[in-house]
Amino acid sequence: ATPEGELLQPPADLIGDPSHARHSHLPLPRDLFAPRKNSRGVEFGDREALASLLEETREHAPRCDDAIAIATRESARVAMAAAAGAFPAWERTDVETRAAIIERAADLVETKRGELIALLQDEAGKTLDDALAEVREAADLCRYYASEARLLFRERPLPGPTGEDNRLIRRGRGVFVCISPWNFPLAIFTGQVAAALVCGNSVAAKPAAQTPLVARAAITLLHEAGVPRNALQFVPGGADIGAALVVDAQTAGVVFTGSSETARAIHRALAASDGPIVPFVAETGGVNAMIVDSTALLEQVIDDVLASAFRSAGQRCSALRLLCLQEEIYDDALAMLIGAARELRVGDPRDLSTHVGPVIDAEAKAALDAYLSRRRAEGSVLFAAQAPQSGSFVAPHIVALTRAGELREEIFGPVLHVARWRAGENGFARLVEEIAASGFGLTMGLHSRIETRISELAELTPSGNLYVNRNMIGAVVGSQPFGGWRASGTGPKAGGPDYLRRFLREVTLTVNT
Ligand code: NAD
Ligand code: ALA
Repeated sequence: ATPEGELLQPPADLIGDPSHARHSHLPLPRDLFAPRKNSRGVEFGDREALASLLEETREHAPRCDDAIAIATRESARVAMAAAAGAFPAWERTDVETRAAIIERAADLVETKRGELIALLQDEAGKTLDDALAEVREAADLCRYYASEARLLFRERPLPGPTGEDNRLIRRGRGVFVCISPWNFPLAIFTGQVAAALVCGNSVAAKPAAQTPLVARAAITLLHEAGVPRNALQFVPGGADIGAALVVDAQTAGVVFTGSSETARAIHRALAASDGPIVPFVAETGGVNAMIVDSTALLEQVIDDVLASAFRSAGQRCSALRLLCLQEEIYDDALAMLIGAARELRVGDPRDLSTHVGPVIDAEAKAALDAYLSRRRAEGSVLFAAQAPQSGSFVAPHIVALTRAGELREEIFGPVLHVARWRAGENGFARLVEEIAASGFGLTMGLHSRIETRISELAELTPSGNLYVNRNMIGAVVGSQPFGGWRASGTGPKAGGPDYLRRFLREVTLTVNT
């Protein structure tokens, strides 16, 4: 049976002023989902059927300018107390029931995909392909964590001398604070929450301030699936609310995805707190490189580079930032790349022929524009695509570097940096060292037909995920557990077999029989 915790919601006067989502990228013309062919012929399941489904659900989906009540510090504290009150009953619920509820949430994600895709497009500026991929990932994460929890929570008898019974028992920890970014406002938000819940924790979920509507839709369907209302608290707000949740006396664990800078701030806040020492799972950014040598198939390289650098307007932690081309192919590869990049269509993400949508908001655009003007002033911009003048669009850019090690910061947008490298004696190993000097360790790509080079990089790579002879985005749940180390995160990898272990506590029971 599903336990119902005592209902304790923050009183209305503790809820902050309604804030309006800031991202009406464009007005909403009514005929945008008229079926169209993608100019690059990219297959997308039954796009036409999906387009008409979207047209129907768009009628009913919350609008991007819907008001949403944001939390105050006091309402965040009350939400934490309510989650703590709901924890014992939820933790006592057997793992099978918890897993079945999370699987039901996955079913609901699929049933409500039209509404979710419409929200992802309107609030986060996602293209149809990106929005659909995100909906699939959210459902996959729920199902994967449900099945992993069933395995993990099996009681395990342990060896011991005759007359002694030893067992390892796994349990939830308490209230998990889940803090997520705007760039995967459904998949990462739902994945964190599902992982914490299925392990028997209650949850305070704080989405990014830019994407509260997608998050609210996810919360609604998790409650509808059977998660007790108080075991899952929705705490929308900005950095100040995240910071307050982290140091709340009820916090039993923190899972965070976002920038390395914020991860460091949370780490410091947890270290300074006098309360219990709690687990901290952080997944952050990267300066992700792809190395291409002279044996690579250039046609394939170009497709993979365009997808890795510019899909999702480069707003993926996994995105390619630094392309390292071997000297012998540098000129040809660059000419092909620029030729192909000219074909990219930047514009309304709801238009099926758009490849690159907007960046998240005017602030992100201003930061990218400032970076690109500096690069333009120094004469290193090799290519800039066309982009609409109004709205938060940033055209894909290609920027030349004098050497690979020059790039030390994550530029979170459609900006690809290119450097040349020479093989020579130890040239490849030196290049990998230069790339590693950024201090990050998230994704890396290699295009090469030399088998020993592939195994050499598998040995040397500073990254958490290494992709060979393909693009380097879109890790698949269960097949490509995702995440980095060093400045890119703590691990364990999301969508991998060890992820849930950080969300539980272990009791060793020894009975003298
Ligand atoms: P961000 O760090 O600015 O914000 C992330 C979340 O943290 C938001 O909910 C924000 O409100 C909250 N926050 C900010 N300051 C806080 C504080 N002091 N205490 C507690 N919470 C705080 O990141 P963003 O701009 O939303 O997302 C983009 C970043 O996320 C990029 O660096 C990207 O690489 C990274 N990212 C990483 C992964 C991954 O799996 N490794 C996935 C997606 C995004
Ligand atoms: N998991 C996402 C990807 O692999 C960030 O692109």
